[in-house]
Amino acid sequence: MTMLEIIEKKKLHGELSREEIHFFAQAAAEKSVPDYQLAALLMAIRLNGMTDRETTDLTLEMRDSGDVADLSAIPGIKVDKHSTGGVGDTTTLVLTPLAAACGVPVAKISGRGLGHTGGTLDKLESIPGMKVAMSTDQFIRQVNEIGLVVAAQSGYLAPADKTLYALRDVTSTVDSLPLIISSIMSKKLASGVDAIVLDVKTGSGAIMHTLEDSKALAEGMVRVGRLAGKPMVALVTDMSQPLGTHVGNALEVKEAIDLLAGRAGGDLLEVSLGIGGWMLKLAGITETAEEGEARMREAIASGAGLQKLKDMIAAQGGNPAVCDDVKLLPQAAVIRTSVCGKAGYVQKMDTEALGLASQAMGAGRETMEDQLDYSVGYVLKVRLGDKVEADTPLVELHAKNEADAARAEAAIKAAIRIGPEPAEKPPLFYAIITE
Ligand code: URA
Ligand code: CA
Repeated sequence: MTMLEIIEKKKLHGELSREEIHFFAQAAAEKSVPDYQLAALLMAIRLNGMTDRETTDLTLEMRDSGDVADLSAIPGIKVDKHSTGGVGDTTTLVLTPLAAACGVPVAKISGRGLGHTGGTLDKLESIPGMKVAMSTDQFIRQVNEIGLVVAAQSGYLAPADKTLYALRDVTSTVDSLPLIISSIMSKKLASGVDAIVLDVKTGSGAIMHTLEDSKALAEGMVRVGRLAGKPMVALVTDMSQPLGTHVGNALEVKEAIDLLAGRAGGDLLEVSLGIGGWMLKLAGITETAEEGEARMREAIASGAGLQKLKDMIAAQGGNPAVCDDVKLLPQAAVIRTSVCGKAGYVQKMDTEALGLASQAMGAGRETMEDQLDYSVGYVLKVRLGDKVEADTPLVELHAKNEADAARAEAAIKAAIRIGPEPAEKPPLFYAIITE
């Protein structure tokens, strides 16, 4: 078998065998064939697709391209959640402390920002002293001691994805259902958790912009998870505007703390509770997701959720006092508000452009070597459907300097359409896909 024969077969719309897919995943993990051949096959898959069988085989072969973590030393049903990525999407920081406070053992491996989307590890590192790298032993010990860990991957998990993801990013092959499903699910299946709740975003800030594609992605991931023996639920949720009001690393941590402290509400809280409710159900703690949601609301009211976040920050070397005084988080040099400039209704947001505006301020990386500025970003003061006047605040900018603030202000204004016709507030949840 050669890589050239496999490329040829997929080019001609053929269905790859398990053996051929195994060869491809091993070649990606070991980098034993040149990048141009891997990239050629990725493009053939992007253009000609894969059957459900091929997608499942690719996921399992990518999972088995490295180690599969063993979390059996942690008692209980370990339930993970995964979001396909968005802007102002801080659900992990809101719901993992709440789920842990309700008794779910949370052993979460998170990632860094990618393109216009933020990453949980970058957000956590905005907390002074916070460490996200640890050994597998430490990772397991922390879950057994406090019930909650959110950290970087330490083992050799799904190395085939590492190679393929980097190639997809630079060959215009990210937006392929079989490639997204196998990328996400191979990592989740290798992480050793027992059950998974997926948050599949849809809209202008999501990897899939249309509801049809987002649903197909959600269904595909649930199908593969079921075949791999993991209970799964996927929620399709809105990303036609940033989910939270805060965008930027320390700003998003502040919003999560405000929500856990019961001082704030809004769409980020509702989506976090919706996902978390399913985590409690899959963990066998409640009968239904609704009961799970109610339990999590109690963990906000009692302060148990915020206490869990403090415990985790302390266990990972950070300063837990940020939870009592958010001013201890990094603060930007320039903080100023910009107004809407005209009256009307907030009709549309280009959420990807809004994510890129925060990245350009220094909250995200443009090259792999970029140092982040944790303090920068912005707080959006309007939501889709809002009626605004010319002097209604639009955004509070948190910038390194006035020039950056002015650039971000222009980009944000260009990304938000205000017009005379009333506009509807989008739904938060579009679909729930269970087995
Ligand atoms: N996130 C991933 O990890 N992989 C993809 O392909 C898309 C989003
Ligand atoms: Ca994310």
